[in-house]
Amino acid sequence: MKTKKRILVTGGLGYIGSHTVVELQEAGYEVYIIDNLSNSRPGVADRIASITGIRPHTEIFDLQDRDRLLRYFQEHRIDGVIHFAASKAVGESVQKPLHYYRNNLVSLMNVLEAMRASGSRHIIFSSSCTVYGQADQMPITENAPLKPAESPYGNTKKISEDILSDFAGVSDIRVVSLRYFNPIGAHPSAQIGELPLGVPQNLVPFITQTAAGIREELSVFGSDYPTPDGTAIRDYIHVVDLAQAHIAALKYLSEGKNSDTIEFFNVGTGKGSSVLEVIHAFERATGVKLRYKMAPRRPGDITEAYADTTKANRILGWKARKTLEQALYDAWQWQKTL
Ligand code: UD1
Repeated sequence: MKTKKRILVTGGLGYIGSHTVVELQEAGYEVYIIDNLSNSRPGVADRIASITGIRPHTEIFDLQDRDRLLRYFQEHRIDGVIHFAASKAVGESVQKPLHYYRNNLVSLMNVLEAMRASGSRHIIFSSSCTVYGQADQMPITENAPLKPAESPYGNTKKISEDILSDFAGVSDIRVVSLRYFNPIGAHPSAQIGELPLGVPQNLVPFITQTAAGIREELSVFGSDYPTPDGTAIRDYIHVVDLAQAHIAALKYLSEGKNSDTIEFFNVGTGKGSSVLEVIHAFERATGVKLRYKMAPRRPGDITEAYADTTKANRILGWKARKTLEQALYDAWQWQKTL
């Protein structure tokens, strides 16, 4: 019998992590989770088990605990790593830069050190389209120049890519860095989804909370952007599609198809949607009317970002399949369970 490949998912109880764990289990991988519960709940492991019938091996500790992580890798034979664990709130990162740099960078360095010490070679990194800033050309290809980060959070993604690149150059570790556009939606089972702490900063959780009556009204940040309807454009991708990109990336590395020590892929749908288009798509998909008003631009926001996904389509053989309406419908089904 062929033994299952063992994949460590750091941050596996979080939003994108939990969806990726489900897809990994369904694809036949054995999943190991490390999570520090900083932005997730232990009950997520039960939800995963109820979707897939398999309870992921889960340990709760912080990746900044280097000694424990080194021991963990010695004790478990890990074939590959998907590294999600990181702090991700842009505004908070401006207030607490040291926390962001320490948490996001030290964790990554500890993971890499433990991988090398134990002979584990493949890592998929959670990067972000934020590394492109306001790109000069749409859609954005992987060759677009990287712009100075707008926040410590964004900077940790840029620096993490540099750390990975430098380390892959002098070790036998091979890296795929996935640059996510805007992940939204939830698992169609409505058992797992996004759990924003406090007032949501991201558009879709704010929409679903407004529809649920938790928030009075949605503010559309900026109606004077140079776009067809004046509101900002993003590439919203269903979190299940995004999760599947990680599996494609793992296969790519394990089949030795990579041509470089580190490779970067945009993970989006390739389609841009404005804030008003998202609002109307939500209303169509759910039949729920949203209260919204036009408001000033949010500082630090860009006009538009959507992906050229040709590279991921061709080289990883991966493509986003779900529509914006499906993603918004699933986000709403999930919100209703909260
Ligand atoms: C944000 C982060 C980005 C991060 C990503 C992760 C900022 C500036 N950027 O991206 O670095 O990688 O989240 O999820 O925070 N909007 C409204 N009303 C709202 C909320 C949002 O109109 O109440 C608008 C925003 O102005 C933007 C769009 O909706 O045009 C999407 O916003 P959001 O979901 O926060 O994502 P990004 O800003 O693209």
